[in-house]
Amino acid sequence: NLYRPMAAGVAQDDEANLAAAKAFVSHLIETVDPEEFDEVFGVICSPSHVSFTDKSNLVATLRGQVNAIMVVTEPFATAFAIGEIGGSIVVDIGAGTTDIARIHGTFPTDEDQVTIQEAGDWLDLELKNLIAKKFTGAQITKDMVRKWKEESSYVGGDVRTVEVSLSVDGKSQNVDIGDLIQEACELLIPKVGNAIKRIVAEADPEYQPVLRNNIILSGGGSLIEGLAERVAREISDIGDVNVWCVENPLEKVAEGALMLAGEMPDDMYTSIN
Ligand SMILES: Nc1ncnc2c1ncn2[C@@H]1O[C@H](COP(=O)(O)OP(=O)(O)OP(=O)(O)O)[C@@H](O)[C@H]1O
Ligand SMILES: [Mg+2]
Repeated sequence: NLYRPMAAGVAQDDEANLAAAKAFVSHLIETVDPEEFDEVFGVICSPSHVSFTDKSNLVATLRGQVNAIMVVTEPFATAFAIGEIGGSIVVDIGAGTTDIARIHGTFPTDEDQVTIQEAGDWLDLELKNLIAKKFTGAQITKDMVRKWKEESSYVGGDVRTVEVSLSVDGKSQNVDIGDLIQEACELLIPKVGNAIKRIVAEADPEYQPVLRNNIILSGGGSLIEGLAERVAREISDIGDVNVWCVENPLEKVAEGALMLAGEMPDDMYTSIN
């Protein structure tokens, strides 16, 4: 079973999801193997906006296993990992949410961030619908669609051929979904583009050129081929922009969290005992 304790960026508080989240934390702590008397401090990365309810759910998950926590946003952790906290816009295209944040020196506040629901899970659903519409009777699951997307996602350029095999009314069939993959990925572009424009527009005008010049795509969604170029074209009406993708986007948030854990003083953590 695949659990999504942070589906759509919201901490789920049903029993199964809470248990999965707790088991994951226990596993992480086991890998660190602390001594009996050690205090465990955790850096937790969350989508841009953590509501009070989310925080309570988080604490419920961690209590008894972790002594103190520091909650930072995923875009900030990413910027920290790659040494770009000086001035950048980080666009973290995850599974549940896309988080877009202005980063300028310190921890971003709520005003520096926009979260939209259009991200990987949403893309899977859009693609699934497109496939179901074109191949009537096709028997497809979300996980099949996600795999196809991860293998072949792209935007811009010519339509490609992507052959997959699926069952249509019980009969195995090879079909080309290359056009549908492009179409689904394209749907993300205006959503992300508009959110970036908003984040730029609401920034201090003196600072806007710096931000436009350093727009960083991260998260699994940034692996969509051609994405940086396509996003740059989408927002080119706001002036000269520079859009680029981080390396190893699936690990950047965790890398940043680890670096923060190494560098931040104890008083940055909040006790949850
Ligand atoms: N090559 C790829 N092309 C498009 N999407 C991809 C690719 N590889 C992974 N993804 C998608 O990236 C998403 C996972 O990314 P990531 O690990 O950054 O998300 P997350 O941190 O778990 O989610 P969130 O940030 O919303 O909490 C999934 O939706 C996955 O399908
Ligand atoms: Mg993420």
